[in-house]
Parts: sequence; C-alpha cells; structure tokens
Amino acid sequence: MSQVSQEYILEMTDIVKEFPGVRALKGVQLKVRPGTVHTLMGENGAGKSTLMKCLIGIHPPTSGKIVFGGKEVRFKTTLEALNAGISMIHQELSPVPERSVAENLWLGRAPRRGLRVDHKKMREDSIALFKKLDLDLDPDDKMGDLTVAKMQMVEIAKAVSYDSRIVIMDEPTSSLTDAEVEQLFKIIADLKAKNVAIIYISHKMDEIFRISDDITVYRDGEYIATDRAENLNVDKVIQLMVGREVTDMFPKVECPIGETILKVEHLSAGRAVKDVSFELHRGEILGFAGLVGAGRTETAETIFGMRRMTGGKLYKDGKEIHIKSPEQAIANKIALLTEDRRGNGIVGLLSIKDNTVLANLKQYGFPLNHKRIRADTEEYVKKLNTKTPTIETPIQNLSGGNQQKVLVGRWLLTDPDILIVDEPTRGIDVGAKAEIHSLITRLAGEGKAIIMISSELPEVMGMSDRIVVMHEGTMTAIVDRKDFSSELILKYATSETPYQPAEA
Ligand SMILES: Nc1ncnc2c1ncn2[C@@H]1O[C@H](COP(=O)(O)OP(=O)(O)OP(=O)(O)O)[C@@H](O)[C@H]1O
Ligand SMILES: [Mg+2]
Repeated sequence: MSQVSQEYILEMTDIVKEFPGVRALKGVQLKVRPGTVHTLMGENGAGKSTLMKCLIGIHPPTSGKIVFGGKEVRFKTTLEALNAGISMIHQELSPVPERSVAENLWLGRAPRRGLRVDHKKMREDSIALFKKLDLDLDPDDKMGDLTVAKMQMVEIAKAVSYDSRIVIMDEPTSSLTDAEVEQLFKIIADLKAKNVAIIYISHKMDEIFRISDDITVYRDGEYIATDRAENLNVDKVIQLMVGREVTDMFPKVECPIGETILKVEHLSAGRAVKDVSFELHRGEILGFAGLVGAGRTETAETIFGMRRMTGGKLYKDGKEIHIKSPEQAIANKIALLTEDRRGNGIVGLLSIKDNTVLANLKQYGFPLNHKRIRADTEEYVKKLNTKTPTIETPIQNLSGGNQQKVLVGRWLLTDPDILIVDEPTRGIDVGAKAEIHSLITRLAGEGKAIIMISSELPEVMGMSDRIVVMHEGTMTAIVDRKDFSSELILKYATSETPYQPAEA
C-alpha cells in the first residue's frame, strides 16, 4: 500500500459530514496526484465546497480519513492547513473592503519591524508578487473599490503566495474575463510545473476540459466517479453529475416584442458610463456584452439608482422618471439582480425566507403577514429547485449556487416590469442554469422586459433578441438577433468607435 501513498499527494476516504439536519457528505473519496489539476464536479449542493472545507479545517469531518503527503492529518484550523501546505481560494470572497490590496494580501502575516507593520516591505512584496504572476494590480488601491474580478485576482495571488503543495480553487473564474482566465491558467501551469496539485471547482465545461488532468464527480453528497479528463467529455460528465440528460440550454422562445417600456437617453455616470442610449421593449430580452470594465454593470447600477447619474435621461412608458436610489427604482417596478451577491445581495445570517422577501417587505403589510411570506418563499424555492432543508435555514448554510437561486427568487417576487440580471447564472450548475433560462424566457413571454448582462457569449447570444455591446464605458453597437455571431460581438467589444444609430 505504500506505493499508493507515493502516487497521491492527497487521499481522502469515507468522508462523512453532517450538519444539523443535512448529511452533506455521505462517505466520499478524493485522490489527488501531485502536479495535476484535479477538478471536482457536481450540481449545486453536491458537496464540493464542503469537502474542501473539511480538508482545510473549516469544518471538522464527522468521520473519515485524510492522508496528505503520506501522513494522516486532521487540520483544526485553516492556519494549520496553510502551514502544512494547503491553501484555498474561496467561492465566496471575503475581503476587508476598507483596507488596501496589500493589507488584504498579507492579512495576519504582515512583515514587521519590531512591533510595527513594515508597510514599505509589504508594498514591495506585493509588487514583486504581482509582477511574478503578471497581474495588473495596485497594492495601494482600496480593496472595496475593486471590481469583483480584481478582488478574485487578489485572492488568487494570495493563495499562490503561500508556496503550498495543494492550491484549492473554488470557482476562481466566476467573474473573470477571458484574458484574466488565461492569466490564471498560466499561473496554474507554473504551479503544476513545480509539482503543486490544484484542486479545481468550476461549472464551466470548456475551461474544465482545457485544464483538468483528472475529474471527480459527486452527486447529492455521494461519490460517483473519478477518471482522467481525456476519457470523459461534456455529455458524459453531465450524465454523471445529473443522472439524466439535460437539453434545452438556451430555450429561446420567439415572443412578440411590444412597445417601448424603457428609454435610456445619453446616460452617463462619471467615467464608468459614457453617453449610453437604447430602448427596451416589452417582451424583449436585451443582452449586454463586453469585456470586464466595459461598463455594463455600472450601466445597470445607474439605471437602478445605485450609482449617481451624471448625465442623460430615463423614460418609462414615455414619461421621464428620476431614480436616485434603489427604492425609487423598485417603486418604478425596476429590479436588479446584482453580480456581487456577497456585497449587494445576501444577508448571510438571515434565513432563506427573510432573504427572499427582503426587497419586498412593504407588500406584506404591517404587522407582517408571515403566512404569505412563507407561502411565497416556498413557491420560489420550488420553482427554482433550491436545495435547502427548510426556508428558515440561514442562507449562509446553502451552497453557492443555491444562494444565487434565492436572490433570483427575491427579484422575481418584486414582480418588476423591468428585470435587470447581472451574470444571473454565475456559479449555477447546468441543470439549474436551464431552469433560470426558461424562467427568464417565460417572464419575457408575459410581457416583462429583461436586460441580461452576461460574460458567457453562448448564454447572451442564446437568450437575447438584441445585444448592446460596450467597450470602456461606451456603447459600440446594438446587434440584432439575426446578425449574432461571436466574431461580430467580440469585434465591437474591442472597438473604440461609439455606436452611430442609423438615421430613420
Ligand atoms: N454550514 C452549513 N450548515 C448547514 N448545511 C450546510 C453548510 N454548508 C453546506 N451545507 C449544505 O451541504 C450541502 C453541500 O453544500 P456545498 O456548499 O458543499 O455544495 P457545492 O457542491 O459546493 O455546491 P455549489 O456548486 O452550489 O457551490 C448543501 O446541501 C448545503 O446546504
Ligand atoms: Mg460550492
């Protein structure tokens, strides 16, 4: 048997993890070879993140055996795991927003001179690290000012900086652009060359097949299979994950496009959004494409009153509207499903139920009608197939993808006329993705208007009637469905020329 432990840097066997009322892991295994990328796959709630948290000492496993580097281990804290050589990039980022990038990077291990933090050295070490990893980050920036993508890059740099023998990456690319993903893949290749093992968790099939050496699939807390990536393909993996076939990824249904519901005229917000104009119609799904930094999220935030409008006008049903806060947007029946569920979205300690009705409390009268609150929550849990023991469960206990579903439910419940969704299926597994897509399509069919921001071109092209393309805050094109092609959209996404509407 000694040969087996030579072969694997990590062997987890018969791992069981019970939370009150949930058997999250029912005796699973994972065997990771050094110098490889080992990808964990499975639907939302399958147990991937939990298994990793059992490994690095966040959750004590209920039972099971962990052998790391030939020795049986049981880490009690993440610090112990780090010191032993295992670091992790978490699915839910938890930066300290008011501190600098450098301070976040060296949190708890800042270089010192005597009793004081050596800020100069900390800056220099940060710059050296960013240079080594070829990352465009500034150590002096305030963490809270960064985009989600940049925060994710800081997390990646941090995990790599520990010189670990295993680096766990739980959905590291969920908000990265293609270029940033390429950078990450370069970092991964370097780590592999140093015989570091990477445990990779992602729902993005194309990237999984590009970088994985081995793939292990879990379903409902059970181990299903491990195989070399070259022996698998997308269909086989989905079959293993779901236990059934998934069709209908982008169920576009042609529905009649009605009159204009929202007119955006010369919208500007500082330097982030420059002179954006478009019309949105009832029954329409209007996609927004572009690279990160294109200003799509910022445009959405401005319409929703989260960001100050510095120029332009908004009209709803032909009447000018003034939106200076999300409350005013909601009053105008506009809803926004945000990209960053941690920062603007979920309230971790509150229940599924409270998180579902949060944007909508007024509707339940005073005193609150708890019976209706429960009924509405149950309805959306069912509609979206959210995996949770009860609706009273704190949302932080749900898997990442299931948290996202609760947020989708929250905004649907406000019964908006205009629903803006920013990366709605990020971190969502293939089956649930298809469900959210058909839900969005159904809403359009009911005459609602949808703005859909997505960095996944197949998704935005599959779902939209038209696509607005942006580049660095400027709108560069509006493309009709009949003209969709990834080449054309990418061309506009990198174009410097502002869109010129054809004269009628
Ligand atoms: N702290 C916790 N308390 C109670 N239950 C939990 C806790 N953490 C996770 N669970 C439950 O364990 C199960 C597995 O969740 P886990 O986060 O591991 O899923 P996952 O495979 O990472 O899914 P995703 O792809 O959505 O991130 C889920 O049913 C989840 O609700
Ligand atoms: Mg997870």
